[in-house]
Amino acid sequence: MKSENVVWHQATVTRQRREKLNGHKSFVLWFTGLSGSGKSTVAHAVEERLHQAGCRTFVFDGDNVRHGLCSDLGFSEEDRRENIRRIGEMTKLFVEAGVIAMTAFISPFRADRKRVRERFAEGDFIEVHCDCSLEVCEARDVKGLYAKARAGLIPNYTGISSPYESPENPEIRLKTDTETLEESVEKVMEYLRERRLLE
Ligand code: ADX
Repeated sequence: MKSENVVWHQATVTRQRREKLNGHKSFVLWFTGLSGSGKSTVAHAVEERLHQAGCRTFVFDGDNVRHGLCSDLGFSEEDRRENIRRIGEMTKLFVEAGVIAMTAFISPFRADRKRVRERFAEGDFIEVHCDCSLEVCEARDVKGLYAKARAGLIPNYTGISSPYESPENPEIRLKTDTETLEESVEKVMEYLRERRLLE
């Protein structure tokens, strides 16, 4: 920490009081997976279900955040680490604010995801692996970036010239190359219901 003379201010309106007012717990659903694996699609579909159920939600999307908060960052290992650190800190604030935060970042490195997890209390960080083969992501190539990466036009492209480290023990694993969107959403909802996070 660079700043030494800072003192934490304790709010009287606590997370617990916000959760009570909202009628549900707050936590983060951390979606991780290759580009094109369905992170944003599933996150937004889960958000739609939660919103309709009266929950307070917000989705942080990789490409959007890189237009603003993280517009100074590229795709080197160091920049990705800082990207994930910032998102982790921001979602932590949202969880304090009583919101169900969802993130859709490749977050390719295990160590970076672990670092974020460690910033949360047990149970607040729910890792969701969008497990989709590179072949399928590349065939989808929604943004046309895999083709560019193959042509050598984009350096450090995840899955092509930069690694993706799959989670070993994610709380939820979605087979986004074989199951339907509805099945993936249902898996997430089932997990949340089982843990009584929506009550
Ligand atoms: S992360 O690795 O730092 O988590 P993030 O999710 O924010 O990545 O951004 C990924 C998105 O940026 C991809 O979906 C793609 O649209 C775009 N992108 C541009 N360059 C790259 C690259 N070199 N590797 C991966 N994604 C890239």
